[in-house]
Amino acid sequence: MLVYLNGDWIPADSARVSVFDRGFVFGDSVYEVIPVYGHRPFREAAHLARLKASMTAVGMDERLGPVHWPSVCARLAETLPTGDGTLYLQVTRGAAPRQHAFPANAPLTLFAYARPRVSEPAGNVACTAILCDDIRWARCDIKTTSLIANVLLVQEALSRGADEALLVRDDRVNEGAVSNVFAVCGEQLLTAPRSHLILGGITRDVVLELAAGLGIAVEERAPSRAELSDAREVLITGSSREVTAVTRIDGKPVGDGRPGPVFHRLHAAFQTFKEEVRMGRRM
Ligand code: PDD
Repeated sequence: MLVYLNGDWIPADSARVSVFDRGFVFGDSVYEVIPVYGHRPFREAAHLARLKASMTAVGMDERLGPVHWPSVCARLAETLPTGDGTLYLQVTRGAAPRQHAFPANAPLTLFAYARPRVSEPAGNVACTAILCDDIRWARCDIKTTSLIANVLLVQEALSRGADEALLVRDDRVNEGAVSNVFAVCGEQLLTAPRSHLILGGITRDVVLELAAGLGIAVEERAPSRAELSDAREVLITGSSREVTAVTRIDGKPVGDGRPGPVFHRLHAAFQTFKEEVRMGRRM
């Protein structure tokens, strides 16, 4: 497998980054995960805009690492054997002697690779979750690789036999450790509004568009713990799991414990959307 590193295409086994790289030493780094369907990067412009926003938010100067990401993405997407998978893009503040302050003029480290889709997510429609205190920092809108809190939260979920941790701050369920969260409460689909408390998911945006097209009423308001516990359905969205139904939270069934009608409508619409992306009819 060839990976992209600082302008070169290198076999993954021989790609090397300095031990003084600030991504390694400080987690001083941002990233993106872009789904690919039929060799076409999905919502590429939105992902690249978010990468740029993350870089701006942490004060990374693009001129220190010029790259034409669309060309890199196209070349990586071409290599995917089935045409489906994900692209991983990472930008760090580069290698420099260890001090917290930004180094003067260190070139950014630019890294990207493609990962084939291991299983068809369409077949994997349900998962389970636990509720956890949101122990992350207060800039969850920045897609940084400083993910130790998310790592611990996912591990906590796995150790308790669940797949995802749903994160609670001030009694509001804002998002998951690796996903955005939607709850069907009454006749409405609730999801946290974009703010510094969530990552503005690209899949979330697609699901909001699909919900509008299907006439499903949405309120961008984070459900309370009590609302989530009474919800008829709970869904999570993200680039790798797409749209998935959460059928148990803390061991208790959500609704009747099976993926519900709102999930089925959104999931079907998402599959149709993907097919159209594969055929180049939509982006
Ligand atoms: N994570 N919220 C968090 C905390 C996430 O980590 C992710 C995705 C999302 C969903 O965003 P999107 O729909 O743009 O993928 C929401 C990626 C996939 C990851 O870290 O691997």
